Amino acid sequence: MHFYLEPGGKLTGRIRVPGDKSMSHRAIMLGSIAEGRSSVSGFLQGEDALATLAAFRQMGVAISDPVAGELTIDGVGLHGLAPPECVMDVGNSGTSIRLMAGLLAGQRFDSILTGDQSLLRRPMARVITPLSQMGALISSHEGRPPLEVMGGRALTGIHYDMPVASAQVKSSVLLAGLYASGLTSVTEPAPTRDHTERMLRGFGYPVVTDDGVIQLQGGGTLTATDIDIPADISSAAFFLVGASIAPGSDLILEHVGVNPTRDGVITILREMGADIEIMSERSVGGEPVADIRVRYAPLRGIEIPIEEVPLAIDELPVILVAAACAEGVTVLRGAEELRVKESDRIASMADGLNQLGITNRVQPDGIEVVGGEPSGGVIATHYDHRVAMSFSMAALRASDRIKVSDCAHVATSFPGFAELAVQTGLRLEVAEE
Ligand code: S3P
Repeated sequence: MHFYLEPGGKLTGRIRVPGDKSMSHRAIMLGSIAEGRSSVSGFLQGEDALATLAAFRQMGVAISDPVAGELTIDGVGLHGLAPPECVMDVGNSGTSIRLMAGLLAGQRFDSILTGDQSLLRRPMARVITPLSQMGALISSHEGRPPLEVMGGRALTGIHYDMPVASAQVKSSVLLAGLYASGLTSVTEPAPTRDHTERMLRGFGYPVVTDDGVIQLQGGGTLTATDIDIPADISSAAFFLVGASIAPGSDLILEHVGVNPTRDGVITILREMGADIEIMSERSVGGEPVADIRVRYAPLRGIEIPIEEVPLAIDELPVILVAAACAEGVTVLRGAEELRVKESDRIASMADGLNQLGITNRVQPDGIEVVGGEPSGGVIATHYDHRVAMSFSMAALRASDRIKVSDCAHVATSFPGFAELAVQTGLRLEVAEE
């Protein structure tokens, strides 16, 4: 599937993008090991979260078919999961495999996790190392999936000082910690998304966060709860950038999760001069939520503050599109994690920017982008959903037609992206080839 985009246009109206991917995964996982029936609304019916849902069904959890983002989970309790009959294939989803590795390490049964070509290239030692220290036995293919997680291991709580700022690693260790004896604690080198901690508390499970250390005691109980998942700020980010770069734009994004561990995109775009208004901020199920109004404003290049990088990790590709349309140079450093996402996002973005005639200099841990006038061109997505959606937004300021090739992966995180983009004013056509 390819996207063809005519240049120009502006984004207007009022939309709600689909549910938060990180929270959707966690809702399935925690709801499954809770006692009782949990109801979820706002669930992301994208391939990644559906892969997690399918995996827990394979382990005997009754989860209703999601309808318009609503589903119920009949939790089986911490020790109620059943051995899966076959390999669990989580497709493109790094969150599924890394978080589930932690949760499965504490089960009585063996299990195997695998995924698609992109996932098979992604590093897993980052979770295998701490989980092994807890007593888990996990074999991999030279540190990459498939992962074979042995069951029947007695896990012991550890303190883990994380070498990389990764919410997936933190969450994997904490989920294993539910099954470990004693205290499990994690220190992060920089704050990362804290949905696991917040949602565990929502299920009545005590998690203490103090001075950068997150800790929990194993062997407790999760009690079923209702979860209202807000719209995903990572999906909203494409529209925040699109409206910021397209003259005449005025767009409202409804019910967006604005957790401070996720809002780096707002901070960075505002520093670049964006006109973003946070409206009616409220708390929904322990997560901050707001409506966001974004209007066109001329952007300037900045040095992206390094502390914002983990808080905007998934939004950096589209921020680079904003940089391409800004006046002056934008410098991104300290972002080597981008190299091990669904694609090497530094290389993928540099490749696409080159196609659009935007000068850039690649660094091992980032990129410098010289703002200018994007031309038209053919963009290779490297089968990465966020690269595809980022370059779609570039069409708003391009001088000629853009073809974004191989966009099927958009469905992993943002089903309905093309329709919603067209509804707001993007001149996009989908070609099924
Ligand atoms: C996620 C954490 C981040 C992010 C990913 C989702 C999560 O990954 O990039 O899309 O839900 O915990 P890292 O932990 O590898 O930074």
